[in-house]
Parts: sequence; C-alpha cells; structure tokens
Amino acid sequence: SLTISKGAVEFKNVSFHYPESDVPVLRDLSFSVQPGETLAILGSTGSGKTSLFQLVPRLYDVTEGEVLVDGKNVMNYPIEKLRKGIGVVPQEAVLFTGSITENIGWGKEDATSDEIISAAVDAQIHETVEKLPNQYDTRVGQRGVNLSGGQKQRLSIARALVRKPKILMLDDSTSALDLKTEGKLLKALRTYSCTTFIITQKISTAMEADHILLLDDGTVEAWGTHEELLNTSPLYVKIVQS
Ligand code: CTP
Ligand code: MG
Repeated sequence: SLTISKGAVEFKNVSFHYPESDVPVLRDLSFSVQPGETLAILGSTGSGKTSLFQLVPRLYDVTEGEVLVDGKNVMNYPIEKLRKGIGVVPQEAVLFTGSITENIGWGKEDATSDEIISAAVDAQIHETVEKLPNQYDTRVGQRGVNLSGGQKQRLSIARALVRKPKILMLDDSTSALDLKTEGKLLKALRTYSCTTFIITQKISTAMEADHILLLDDGTVEAWGTHEELLNTSPLYVKIVQS
C-alpha cells in the first residue's frame, strides 16, 4: 500500500489560510526537493515557516494547490502511513512525564534499547543522558529532572530519528545549540540520507543546505543556494550582514 518510499517533496502553487481565519498565511508557493536533499527555510517571525511545515504531515491541509510526496498528493496517503514516514520536531520541544527511554521511543514502542541509544548519540544527547542519576531510566517531565531548552530539543530530535524517517522536519530545533554541537548533529543527520527541512535563523546552517527558501510574508522571496541568494536577493544579503 501507499507509504513514503523516497522522500521527494514538491509544493505546487500552494496557498494556505487557517480554518478560523481568511487571512492568507502562505501564497502561491512552488518548489521541489529531491530525496535526501536538505532545504533550509529562513524568514522573519510570522513569515509562515511553521505553517509551511504543517502542510507536509497534514497537520493542516492546503487551501489551494498541492503538496506532493514522491509525486503523489499527500491527500491520497492514508494519514498514519504519511506521518510514519515523516519525523517532525516541533518548535517547542514536548517532553512527557516518563523516562528518557520512553520519551525517545514515544510513537515507536517497538524500538530496541540499541536503537534508542543510537538515536541519542546522533542527536548529540547521549553524553548528557549518561551523566544523569539513572541514565536512560531517569525520569523527566513533572517531578523528574529538569532539562535545559537545548537538552529538550535534542531529546525531541532523538525521538524523530529513532523512527528513521524518510523526511525529517526541524522547526528551529537547533536554536539553543552551540555551533560545535550543531555541526556534529548536522553531520550525523547526513548518515540518515533523509530529505531534511530545517527552519533556522542561522546563516551558518543555511549555507550547508542544498537549497535555501527565504519566506517573506507568506511568499517565496528567494530560492537557491547561498551563493545564488547573495547575488539575487537584497533581503538575503541584509540577513547575512545583520
Ligand atoms: N497564525 C494563525 N493561526 C495559527 C498559527 C499562526 O493565524 N494557529 C498566523 C500567524 O499570526 C502569522 C502567520 O500565521 O501571521 C504565520 O505564522 P507561522 O507560520 O507560525 O510563522 P513563523 O514563520 O513560523 O514564525 P516564528 O519565526 O515566530 O516561529
Ligand atoms: Mg514558527
């Protein structure tokens, strides 16, 4: 039956407004990303980055146009099959009251302990976990140990990685990481060969991507590589210089 096999993503003339409003949040977006490529999404607050993300796993549906995964409209996938192939790391990391293992394995209850640890290593959180009082059995969330914002982000990334997604979507999920840790994380992500969407504020992260999409007020202000955008987008140049 219909599952994500390669992870190609295409937006075709996509427009979107939230159900409770008629203000367009995304207008006429078209772009495509090949399997295994990385797309960095930049844009000021409120420009529509998170909204764009939500259309791929169908947390919301487009108002106009089409989102295609492996050439097929996302509306034609059984939703649980679609979501199984997509790892979404939300802007605000959500942890549950439970152990580290339970938090990483959430949604993939058959994950082995080796798979949990391997995802934690790649998400650059394993060393932190090893230092906790009960390592992977340590309880987090209410009445558990307190974790920093960056530690929560990395647990949340490990949760997405343990599912070996074909498409990985990081919503500003590395904002609290120092550049060295982020560099190691991005290097580890490459070994997954998944198509990666990464919302970021950092030019250093965007420069590493195959494509950069610069959103401005819900429209594509610029699309291309770092070098191309330096030559074609005054807004991008402004961001680089800021
Ligand atoms: N919006 C809305 N209803 C929601 C969520 C967002 O009407 N449930 C609106 C916001 O007010 C904003 C626009 O949609 O005008 C785009 O929001 P969003 O996609 O969340 O913007 P981001 O680019 O993700 O902003 P940020 O960098 O602050 O995360
Ligand atoms: Mg956002």
